[in-house]
Amino acid sequence: MDTARLEELIEREGRERVPLVMLTITNNSGGGQPVSMSNIRAVKEICSRRGIPLYIDACRFAENAYFIKLREPCYSDKTPLEIAREMFAYADGCTMSAKKDGLANIGGFLGSNDDSLAQQERNLLILTEGFPTYGGLAGRDLEAIAVGLNEALDEDYLSYRIASTAYLGEHISHAGVPIVQPPGGHAIYIDARAFLPHIPPAQFPGVALAAALYVEGGIRSVEIGTLMFGQHATMDLVRLAIPRRVYTQSHIDYVVEVILEVWRRRSEIHGLKISYEAPFLRHFTARFRPLSPRP
Ligand SMILES: Cc1ncc(COP(=O)(O)O)c(C=O)c1O
Repeated sequence: MDTARLEELIEREGRERVPLVMLTITNNSGGGQPVSMSNIRAVKEICSRRGIPLYIDACRFAENAYFIKLREPCYSDKTPLEIAREMFAYADGCTMSAKKDGLANIGGFLGSNDDSLAQQERNLLILTEGFPTYGGLAGRDLEAIAVGLNEALDEDYLSYRIASTAYLGEHISHAGVPIVQPPGGHAIYIDARAFLPHIPPAQFPGVALAAALYVEGGIRSVEIGTLMFGQHATMDLVRLAIPRRVYTQSHIDYVVEVILEVWRRRSEIHGLKISYEAPFLRHFTARFRPLSPRP
């Protein structure tokens, strides 16, 4: 997190308008890059000084811990579990989508260090969803998450996962495909503005590229750019998020082949125009039609 801008924002908006600070590890809209331990500490320090709770969006906590181990020399002898414990020690709470580093099919949780807040949250849950043990998740799914949280910290698993993502990144960038460097843990992010320089941001180059990858090879990706952030978008990225423990080396080789085929005929891809957009979070349900090529 940009700590100078965080301080500026709290100053500008006023402490009372900032109920909490949320730190997403790893950074999902910025290329899947890890958050360093010193950055987590610095954010915590700003929050503590102003009495603002720090929450972690923890869905990729294990990958973040492993990157800290690989890249920060004073953590090289620690296990991912020890590093994860330190990361969470700075937080007042967390949200977790367990489909990611919970290695589960579905579900997640909200964690809090504050017992009385947790009690209020449980009471609200009873009104909106049900008693915690019979809410949105069956007991067996909760068990699966408990096992997954531990298995996600296994170093052999983490090193295969990070290597497999890096392999995809290296093979397409070696052929000239512009990606965010270095590769993140869970995904490769293609720079769609550089991939399709003939499509201006207002014609959604990220969505056009995501559609082309799907038509060519059935590859599902997502735009993180003008569709998602509107005029605030500074980049148009296409995220190729890689499911955990699903793909073999030959699946990844197939993905490389498809991307390179689309790269070869990139000049034939056209921009898009929105034909439907919802009033909120339009990127989930928007529909498009292709713009015809210039005569
Ligand atoms: C950083 C981050 N937080 C939260 C979520 C939401 O997860 P869910 O689909 O379980 O609501 C996602 C989904 O991709 C994510 O990337």
